[in-house]
Amino acid sequence: MLHTVLFVCLGNICRSPLAEGVFRSIVSEAGLEDRFEIDSAGTGAWHVGNPPDPRSIEIAAQHRIDISSQRARQVSAGDFRRFETIVAMDRDNLAALKRLGGAGSTGLRLLLNTPPQDVPDPYYGGPDGFEQVYQLVRTGGERLLQDLTARV
Ligand code: 4NP
Repeated sequence: MLHTVLFVCLGNICRSPLAEGVFRSIVSEAGLEDRFEIDSAGTGAWHVGNPPDPRSIEIAAQHRIDISSQRARQVSAGDFRRFETIVAMDRDNLAALKRLGGAGSTGLRLLLNTPPQDVPDPYYGGPDGFEQVYQLVRTGGERLLQDLTARV
């Protein structure tokens, strides 16, 4: 079974590119690349076409993950058909995705959902915020892989 997973934040330059890169790495370490299609997008359009924020590229690189070739894009209606699992980084993103047409989508979820926890927006903060995002997307990505592979 092919799993299709889309990670979504606000700008698609800080959190969801890191979530995409970390989840690719987790899937690859598990030898499951062939069973996954993975992407990321933003609910907003301000940064469309841009590479990830340099601070996200840097924190990924510190963990031996290269996300520099990613480019930001906005979520589209087609994403709700193309992706079985759409993963919001925080509850604001989740609400925006429901408004965009995913209200009835069973695969729409928060990254950290038991208990519900936001991956905080690090854009206006310092570098510590990016390390925190890294740790949260790693924990969330590992749990997500367990959830998806347990389901088969
Ligand atoms: P992201 O962070 O949603 O994690 O990509 C942000 C990036 C840009 C902005 C807000 C959040 N912005 O307001 O431009």
